[in-house]
Amino acid sequence: MRRTLSTALVTGGAGFIGSHTCVELLEHGFEVIVADDYSNSSPEVFTRTQKVAGRFLGAVYRIDLRDRRALSAVFERHPVDVVVHFAAKKEIGESVRNPVTYYDVNVGGTLALLSAMEEHGVRRLVFSSSCSIYGEAERMPLTEADPARPTNPYAASKWTCEQILADVCRRSEDWSVLSLRYFNPAGAHPSGLLGEAPRGAPGNVMPYMAQVAAGRLEQLEVFGGDYATSDGTGIRDYIHVMDVAEAHRLALEHLADRTGLRVFNLGLGSGTSVLELVAAFRRASGRPIPYRIVPRRPGDVTALVADPTAVARAWGWRATRDVAAMCRDAWRFTRLNPAGYAVGR
Ligand code: WQD
Repeated sequence: MRRTLSTALVTGGAGFIGSHTCVELLEHGFEVIVADDYSNSSPEVFTRTQKVAGRFLGAVYRIDLRDRRALSAVFERHPVDVVVHFAAKKEIGESVRNPVTYYDVNVGGTLALLSAMEEHGVRRLVFSSSCSIYGEAERMPLTEADPARPTNPYAASKWTCEQILADVCRRSEDWSVLSLRYFNPAGAHPSGLLGEAPRGAPGNVMPYMAQVAAGRLEQLEVFGGDYATSDGTGIRDYIHVMDVAEAHRLALEHLADRTGLRVFNLGLGSGTSVLELVAAFRRASGRPIPYRIVPRRPGDVTALVADPTAVARAWGWRATRDVAAMCRDAWRFTRLNPAGYAVGR
């Protein structure tokens, strides 16, 4: 009899992908416990998460995962069946400037979490990995068999965590781990209540562009116009955050299928250049998006596009929402929340 996973600890549950995943899990009957340090979001997210889902979170803990005592206390208080681990720093440009912080938070936090899981007999984990581990790959689209060649500390921290998880699963047969390599999550919840609202100036292109459209930032700097692409700008595989959230719920439903480490790419399977994204956002917002081409950002690669076949075969699931929907939903969230989650900011 498959044991249903009912209580999920979501680390980073106040973040962009974490909050949308919490809504999806609540809507599907999971008990959801959140641990977040609020370093890149605010507690206002939890009010909105519960409003959108129409259900309460089981508990929210403001903790830094590296605080092993605080983390252990969470496992002592709740019958956690599975952990969904989002908590990490995730901006590539920032990771080049602050590598030690990225390894400390992303790898150190994961190690602390794995220790607490070991200590409390929790052996099921969905890990938030990233397409950036593939680095500057020759051919697209990328499958999970393509080699990891990280070109920046963020990507290297994610690849390091995957290698740690592989070692843990090799050593003990009772661990079941799914590592989901997101391509570029974008968009927002269609209600307009949840979206991407990082603290400070956004490092990622979609929230930055949304702020330009809203007149809160002057213009978009396009990092590099000399890549070997159709229009010289970087190509990425943008995937709607609602699709990413759905995939996490499916991951929990499939974790109990077998033990060991499995890895899946999460992408739409098509590439969009920065200038194509600007055009799509102009159409969605009806706003001009002034931009200027500047030199490449250190750590960036030319293109990253997913081959999403593996997850389609395993779960019978594909991402369905296109770039136009991502721009439309991201614009709605920004228009309704010009100051992000700082209510009244
Ligand atoms: C996208 C494109 C930039 C900002 C992200 C996440 C990472 C991972 C992968 C989940 C690139 C260009 C950007 C700007 C620009 N996702 N750009 N001007 O670097 O692909 O990584 O997706 O794990 O966590 O950070 O995303 O949005 O920063 O860049 O021209 O102001 O937009 O050069 O071509 P990236 P991004």
